[in-house]
Amino acid sequence: MDNGRLGWINFRLYQSISNVLVIIGLISLSLNTISVTDAGSAFDFELILFAIWLIFFLEIFFRQFAQENEVPQYLRSTAGLIDILAVVIPAVGMVIGLDHADTALLCTVWVFKLLRETATLALLKRVISNERKILTGVSTLFLIVLFLASFLAYVLNREGQSDTFGSIPAAMWWAITTLSTTGYGDAVPSSFAGRVLAGVVMTSGIAVFALWAGILASGFARELRRYEFLRNWDLVARVPLLAQLEARELAEIVRLLRSSEVTSGSIICRQGDPGDQMYFIVEGTVLVSTSEPVWLGSGDYFGELSLITGEPRTATVSASSETSLLILDVSDFRVLLANSPKIANAIESVAKQRLELLRKQSQSQY
Ligand code: CMP
Repeated sequence: MDNGRLGWINFRLYQSISNVLVIIGLISLSLNTISVTDAGSAFDFELILFAIWLIFFLEIFFRQFAQENEVPQYLRSTAGLIDILAVVIPAVGMVIGLDHADTALLCTVWVFKLLRETATLALLKRVISNERKILTGVSTLFLIVLFLASFLAYVLNREGQSDTFGSIPAAMWWAITTLSTTGYGDAVPSSFAGRVLAGVVMTSGIAVFALWAGILASGFARELRRYEFLRNWDLVARVPLLAQLEARELAEIVRLLRSSEVTSGSIICRQGDPGDQMYFIVEGTVLVSTSEPVWLGSGDYFGELSLITGEPRTATVSASSETSLLILDVSDFRVLLANSPKIANAIESVAKQRLELLRKQSQSQY
């Protein structure tokens, strides 16, 4: 859903304010659990919680006025559901007559408002969905190990330690704390066989958790690469030199490019430094500080001369506005030239003109 503007409040600004309110609310409800028992505390955290609740309540109406046509869509979205529950759950507490302190605890549901706009949650959902088969496989393995560990712990220790290993469910608590390598130490097998089993269970636990972590980490890395690819694909279309590539070549180069945002005034490359990458300007303007300064804008490129000649950078280039760049490393630059003669010709003919201009400028200086 395009959030656009929330009435007269800019949506992004409101979102930041809302997050701050949630954090203040969660701190207040935590501190309120101290003040409940501390009669000396004069601060009224419940009043703060009520004020925040009121703002969240009004937020739903603001959204209604701001996006009349989209209200049903908003109410049906996960974000809308979270907003409504954030208001309804504490209200239910008040209506059914919970005391103020317990009603305040229900405000814990606000924690989910922090998640409603983050891309992280959507990313996590996609990663879990992509990797569900292998995650299910490893979870099954975990359950098998858990059950076998509980069973063996019960068989090996039930005689001497019937209080902690007297049944399979009781031994399961030991198995979980051992598999997760938490080891509270409240249940410790005393027999030799029991200790050998504990060693095996701990090692299996580390292996299973490492598998989970590895699957999730590689899933995240794959999703981020896919996201970067899609974003770069859109950006490349704005650089005419690259846009003339065939779809297959384009897909290859998009994989090699890195995007970067540069703030106004920052130096992108410095005269005299060795050249290790070239830059395509997606948006913004850069200043090439040659003796007669040149400004380059969207669709232009720079930093190619030192890659072609192997000489140091011919000029300092700095961003004269917020600039969005695509960066190509020297080795990938060579791949691009080798794979696409059309682009190689275009870059080389512009490079000739630039070098000629630089030569003339340096001659006129003497
Ligand atoms: P390089 O020498 O690697 O680093 C500085 C870059 O500035 C250079 O590559 C060119 O891409 C760019 N540059 C130098 N002179 C000019 C010019 N006259 N016009 C446009 N760009 C230039």
